[in-house]
Amino acid sequence: MEFEEIISKVDRNFQHAIETVYKYIHKTPMEHSKTLSNIVEGDIYLKCENLQKTGSFKVRGAITKISQLKDKVEGVVAVSAGNHAQGVAYAASIYNLKSVIVMPHNASISKVEATKNYGGEVVLLDASFAELFKKGYQIAKERNYEFVHPFNDPVIIAGQGTLAWEILNELYDVDNIVVPIGGGGLISGIAYIAKKLKPEIKVIGVESEAAPKASEALKKGELTEVELKPTLADGLAAKKLGDITFEFIKRYVDEVITVTEKSIAQAIYFLLERNKLVVEGAGATTVATIFDGYREIFRGKKTVLLLSGGNIDLTYIYRILLRGLSEAGKIVTLEGYALDVPGTLNKITGIIARNGGNIVDVFHDRMDIYSPPGYTLLRIIVEVPTTEAVKKIRDGLKKSGIWMEHS
Ligand SMILES: Cc1ncc(COP(=O)(O)O)c(C=O)c1O
Repeated sequence: MEFEEIISKVDRNFQHAIETVYKYIHKTPMEHSKTLSNIVEGDIYLKCENLQKTGSFKVRGAITKISQLKDKVEGVVAVSAGNHAQGVAYAASIYNLKSVIVMPHNASISKVEATKNYGGEVVLLDASFAELFKKGYQIAKERNYEFVHPFNDPVIIAGQGTLAWEILNELYDVDNIVVPIGGGGLISGIAYIAKKLKPEIKVIGVESEAAPKASEALKKGELTEVELKPTLADGLAAKKLGDITFEFIKRYVDEVITVTEKSIAQAIYFLLERNKLVVEGAGATTVATIFDGYREIFRGKKTVLLLSGGNIDLTYIYRILLRGLSEAGKIVTLEGYALDVPGTLNKITGIIARNGGNIVDVFHDRMDIYSPPGYTLLRIIVEVPTTEAVKKIRDGLKKSGIWMEHS
C-alpha cells in the first residue's frame, strides 16, 4: 500500500473511531503534577490512560478495528504479551465475537488472567514472538478468524489517535506530548492526529534502553531488529517497528529518547507515592525521562506525559516499593549474627519496637556455614520513622550483647 493510501485509511478510520470508541471506554483524566512541574521548571500534565478500561490505551485501537468486523467474521486472533490481548478480548466481547489470544508462556500472570476474564481463549506457548505470530496466523486461517495486528495496521493506528484528539480537546496550548514506543502504533496515531490538529506540536517518543528499536532504526535509516534485554517496560519489548509505523515515526515524530531501567523503577515508585497512580513500566517511561535528566526539553513548556497503561503484577510493585522505600531511607535491612539461644529474637524485636521500628520481614538461616559458633544468621527488614530511629536501633542492638551486625 502506498503511504498516501495508508494516510487516507487512517483519516477514514479516525472519524469512525471518534464516533465508536466512547460508547465503550472512558475519556481518561489528565492531572497537572506540581512536583514534576517544579522539577523541570515547566508545566507537566499526566494523561492517565492507566485508568482506561482494560488498564491501557490498547482498547482504543482494538474497538476501532473489531467494530468493523462484526458481521464479517465469527472471531478474531491476536498475539500479545498482555495489553493488546486484553484490549482485543474486551473489544471482541462487546461485539459478541470469539477471541483467541496467543501469549508467551512467561506473560505476566495478571495479564493472562485478565484476558481470560474478558472471554479470551488463551493459547500459551514457550516460543519466540516470530513463532507466536506464525501460530496466530495459522489459527486465524484454520478458523477463518481475522488476525488483529497489535500496531502495524492503519485502523489500529487511527484508534490510538483518539488519545491525541482527547488531549488537544482538553489542553490545546500543549507544547509537547511524550509517548512510549513499543511497535510504534500508539505514537504513530498520536503524532499523526496531534499534528493534524496542531501542526506546531512536538511529539517525543520514549523507549527503554533495553529495547531501542526506534532509536536504532532512525539512526540507521532502515527498519532494524534489536536484541532485547530484560525490562520493567514489558509492553515496549518489541524487537522491531513495523514498516508502516516506522514511516509514521520518520514523518511525524520529532525526537526519540531512551530511559534506563533504574529511572523506570523510580518513576513507578514516584507515581505510586505522590500521585497514588498504579502505572506499569511501559507507561512510566514518560515520567522516567525526568529522572533520566531530560529536563531541558520540558523547561518553560507545557508537556503531557502519557501514562499508557497500569497493568503491573503486584509482585513487581512489591519489589519496586521495597527498593524505593529503602533508597528513601524509610526501610532498612539489618543483617548480622544473633546469639543462638532461646529469647534472642524476642529481645531484638523488642529493641526495634521500642525505637519505633516496624518489622516487615525476618529471614533466619541456622545452616549458614559462615556464622561464628553459637550464632545464627539473621536478616531483618524494618520500616523506620526517621534516620535517628535507625541509629537508636543499631546502638541498642550493639549494646545488647546478642547481636553482631555485618559491616
Ligand atoms: C502500556 C503500554 N504502553 C505503550 C505500548 C506501546 O504501544 P505500541 O506497541 O503501539 O508502540 C504498549 C504496547 O503494548 C503498552 O502495553
